[in-house]
Amino acid sequence: MKNITVIGSGTMGNGIAHVFAQNAYSVSLVDISEAALQKALATIGKNLDRQIAKGTLTEADKAATLGNIKTFTKIEEGAKNADLVVEAASENVNVKLAIFKQLDEICPANTILASNTSSISITQIAAVTKRADKVIGMHFMNPVPVMKLVEVIRGYSTSNEVTQLIMETSKKLGKVPVEVNDYPGFVANKILMPMINEAIITLYEGVAGVEEIDTVMKLGMAHPMGPLQLADFIGLDVCLNIMRVLQDGFGNPKYAPCPLLVNMVTAGHLGVKSGKGFYDYSAGTKELVLADRFKKHSNTVLA
Ligand code: NAI
Repeated sequence: MKNITVIGSGTMGNGIAHVFAQNAYSVSLVDISEAALQKALATIGKNLDRQIAKGTLTEADKAATLGNIKTFTKIEEGAKNADLVVEAASENVNVKLAIFKQLDEICPANTILASNTSSISITQIAAVTKRADKVIGMHFMNPVPVMKLVEVIRGYSTSNEVTQLIMETSKKLGKVPVEVNDYPGFVANKILMPMINEAIITLYEGVAGVEEIDTVMKLGMAHPMGPLQLADFIGLDVCLNIMRVLQDGFGNPKYAPCPLLVNMVTAGHLGVKSGKGFYDYSAGTKELVLADRFKKHSNTVLA
């Protein structure tokens, strides 16, 4: 495989383009927004500079990496010669189904079509194509250039050959691929999101305050970040959507989202991206400042 097309140049798409380009693949980065493409190139440049500052990359590597990336606003131009497409467009089922239907028509018959979706069924995506054996999940973690894991998700009809090829390709990117089956949340979010939801339930029930819950998980379980802070970083709307996918997919009440999570999303308190969640980010993300709303949940107030 040589020609890689990445669809969507947002948070994940720019990182995926970065790692493929850095490993000498020829990358076509596609987005419906020219502004998003320009922002992605600037972000990739900044992240490469960070690698240079750390001494893990040279200026020549940076130039070569950027030279391996071309940008397109039209999918038919960006994907027509792809050996592998990695779709990282917005997490919306209708958007993804439309993209895969179009890719199936545009791309050569042997092109592998992968999705970076966090929660949409690979089997459902594959079903809108005529090549379900060549549709697979390639779930990178954020930030892509840093995080080692790729969850490789086999849809119901994904072939052994395609799975093997994607496992090998992930290794060539310096990643550690893990093969999983296509069920709601795959492995990462089936375990992570109920943990985050349970942390919110713990707060909602008044067992402990925000900082206490995060401190227990950080110092007690050696997590680098507490679950409530992590939820703010992921986006509370994203967490809620994934809980709903688990709840609908398994029909098990243990996946019911906490009413506090639902309220916060309804109120527009989505975490870092909206400036407020469990913590307040109006002064940035460097200092962790408790949101006013949760000050009354501290142990002192409860007592
Ligand atoms: P984002 O919102 O940062 O970027 C999405 C990009 O897709 C935008 O630039 C948008 O203009 C573009 N787009 C929308 N429709 C398009 C179309 N029809 N054709 C081409 N481009 C289109 O989203 P983000 O966070 O990068 O997520 C992308 C995917 O990665 C989603 O499926 C998400 O579930 C998944 N993901 C996100 C993670 C995260 O931490 N943000 C982690 C792992 C997976």
